[in-house]
Amino acid sequence: MGEYVLQMRNIVKSFYGNTVLNNVDFDLKRGHVHAIVGGNGAGKSTLMKILTGVYTKDSGEITIDGIRCDFSNYNDANAAGVRMIFQELSVVPTLTVTENIFLNHEYKKGMFLDDKKMKEEAEALLRRFDLEVPVDEKICNLSVGLCQLIEIVKALSRQAKVLVMDEPTASLTANEVTRLFDIVHNLKASGVSIVYISHRMNEILSIADEITVLRDGSHIITEDAKNLTINGIINYMLGESARHSFEYHERPRRENPPVMLEVENLCVDNLVKDVSFSVNEGEITGIAGLMGSGRTEILEALFGIRKIQKGSVKIQGRPTPIKNTRDAINAGIALVPEDRRREGLVLLHTVKINMLIALFRRVTGKVLIDDAKIKNLTRISVEELNIKTHGIDSLINSLSGGNQQKVVIAKWLKNDPKLLLLDEPTAGIDIGAKGEIIKIIEDYAQKGNSVIVVSSEIPELMAMCDKIIVMVDGRLTRVLTRNDMLSEEVIQHAIQG
Ligand SMILES: Nc1ncnc2c1ncn2[C@@H]1O[C@H](COP(=O)(O)OP(=O)(O)OP(=O)(O)O)[C@@H](O)[C@H]1O
Ligand SMILES: [Mg+2]
Repeated sequence: MGEYVLQMRNIVKSFYGNTVLNNVDFDLKRGHVHAIVGGNGAGKSTLMKILTGVYTKDSGEITIDGIRCDFSNYNDANAAGVRMIFQELSVVPTLTVTENIFLNHEYKKGMFLDDKKMKEEAEALLRRFDLEVPVDEKICNLSVGLCQLIEIVKALSRQAKVLVMDEPTASLTANEVTRLFDIVHNLKASGVSIVYISHRMNEILSIADEITVLRDGSHIITEDAKNLTINGIINYMLGESARHSFEYHERPRRENPPVMLEVENLCVDNLVKDVSFSVNEGEITGIAGLMGSGRTEILEALFGIRKIQKGSVKIQGRPTPIKNTRDAINAGIALVPEDRRREGLVLLHTVKINMLIALFRRVTGKVLIDDAKIKNLTRISVEELNIKTHGIDSLINSLSGGNQQKVVIAKWLKNDPKLLLLDEPTAGIDIGAKGEIIKIIEDYAQKGNSVIVVSSEIPELMAMCDKIIVMVDGRLTRVLTRNDMLSEEVIQHAIQG
């Protein structure tokens, strides 16, 4: 057998006349981890979807173990041992964990499904991940992070020859990433070849043997990981426009700013226990914690999605009961949720319509919606956030993952909330755009608005937050000021409890 398990040559793909892959080559060595990096919309997912038969290429050649392979659908690729963990999760919300894991390759006993065997195997697989999830639970009842882990488990349920992981860690916390890396090492040792797509540079440098950089649909470089540095990769990714602002910029601030939000003794389901904190006007407050620590639930309670069992909320000194989303929006609160696919966007609508949903109150004249005004506002957002789309009438589904996330953020920013809640705002967003999004959030706070941001990426919190609340098992354990945020390690340590 040759050195390469997979070779892709001169791959060309266009959508509606726009070329998104331009003669791209990609070679995967047997038993190696090969990372693909590149900005949002660079073509990473598209290249791998062509490999796995999800998309058809316009031209080019693919060989696996030296044999021409053109899969016409994902099932054919699967049967040949080519499997993919999709960036936009492919688990079916209404099915159980077991049903999802064995979807399309169910075990049968005679004419019937062998439920017992599937359950047992599902449990064994979950144990490999140290996951305590009831296998009969419906996927829709699980958090996004767990859904992502199930997506991974599903791909590992059968022996793979080539495994593509597209942003597998976007919703995972440090612990789970470590677990995933152990599994990747095991797979590698057993001869599986892995394509690893991620925007997290330190992850890539620690896991990859080779790295390929794509920019705007073109192959820029393929190099041994040991010869590359984070800055080097970023320069290849961004080319001429290389710039990234990840340091904290001291913002001019008012003396004794008024309090925007005061939360006292907040209790939510058994997930948030007696939490009290306040956020000043113009302040960016971070919430750090592991998955399940109650960080997302605080945001959801403030936005009226979860029932507040006990505790009070005051906005600008006024007691503000929040019983539902309407109450929250009326109080000037907006939430950009963690899972854009499930909550943030209507995928079958256009960029324009998605913006419109949040803009409704600002653009309705007395009776009619002012179309020119919407178009204008949408265009401004698209430009400000550098959203890559072929036009504001494109379907959201056709945007790359990171660009979809930008639409969600733009949608809420344009609605001018006083208190903006962001849950993992830069998951899946490239390093260039991350800097842009942090800048947008900072500018937004600078106008006197307040922001609460939940993030698993500690450097990101350190880059923009005035203070960080640490959550452990539903309780607030520490409030870190700028002076306490000395290193990533200090914060990592704090969130472990
Ligand atoms: N189904 C589709 N229809 C039309 N255009 C598409 C479709 N899928 C992808 N594209 C376009 O192809 C380009 C590449 O997208 P792709 O999803 O491969 O980017 P990516 O590198 O994976 O980005 P990200 O880091 O944001 O996930 C983008 O401009 C995107 O809008
Ligand atoms: Mg992608």
